Amino acid sequence: MKRYAVGLTGASGVIYGIALIGELLASGAEVHVIVSQAARLVMEQEEGLVPGQTAAQALEAMRSKPGLFFYDNNDITAPMASGSYVIDAMIIMPCTMSTLSALAHGSASNLMERAADVILKENRMLLVVPRETPLNKIHLRNMLMLAEAGAHIVPAMPAFYHHPQGLPDMVYFMVGKVMDLLKLPHQLFKRYGYE
Ligand SMILES: Cc1cc2nc3c(=O)[nH]c(=O)nc-3n(C[C@H](O)[C@H](O)[C@H](O)COP(=O)(O)O)c2cc1C
Repeated sequence: MKRYAVGLTGASGVIYGIALIGELLASGAEVHVIVSQAARLVMEQEEGLVPGQTAAQALEAMRSKPGLFFYDNNDITAPMASGSYVIDAMIIMPCTMSTLSALAHGSASNLMERAADVILKENRMLLVVPRETPLNKIHLRNMLMLAEAGAHIVPAMPAFYHHPQGLPDMVYFMVGKVMDLLKLPHQLFKRYGYE
């Protein structure tokens, strides 16, 4: 069974990560989730995928699903803080510039940062989905530094060639791009050039 770690940070678009958690669970994987304090605040303000539902309610709705585990971001004694606990890949989606900076500089000052640092030192797969615009030179340098350390930088940049009909299509496009990198089969968006 695959085991993934998913980090939700306080960037706009926490629903991207919540939708990803649903797809990873549907693939039969175990999913270990860390939610930053800022993500909890942003989730209260942003849309879920169902009209009238907040992102926070969307996450709450899946809380009791089998295979889903939550961790306190201050709990640096959690299994993921050690390289001996095997995680197939970690995805931080969406990723703030603050967390991205901490990852690029190896600060490891909370569970999310430590778990990502462990993934890099163990040469496992780290996918970071940054969400910010415009980007300053610090953001750009940090992204390059993180890419050079082995992370995949997958900016939250939904496309339009698949003719999205609304918010879920745009969200699932990004989730599908992450699933592609994880080599997990999906039909979350219509691929360019396919009938
Ligand atoms: C409504 C709202 C939207 C935000 N959107 C972003 C964003 O898109 N990108 C970003 O880097 N920070 C964004 N922030 C700021 C982060 O939440 C803030 O820097 C926070 O300290 C990040 O903490 P974390 O990385 O531990 O989640 C947003 C904050 C709020 C309140």
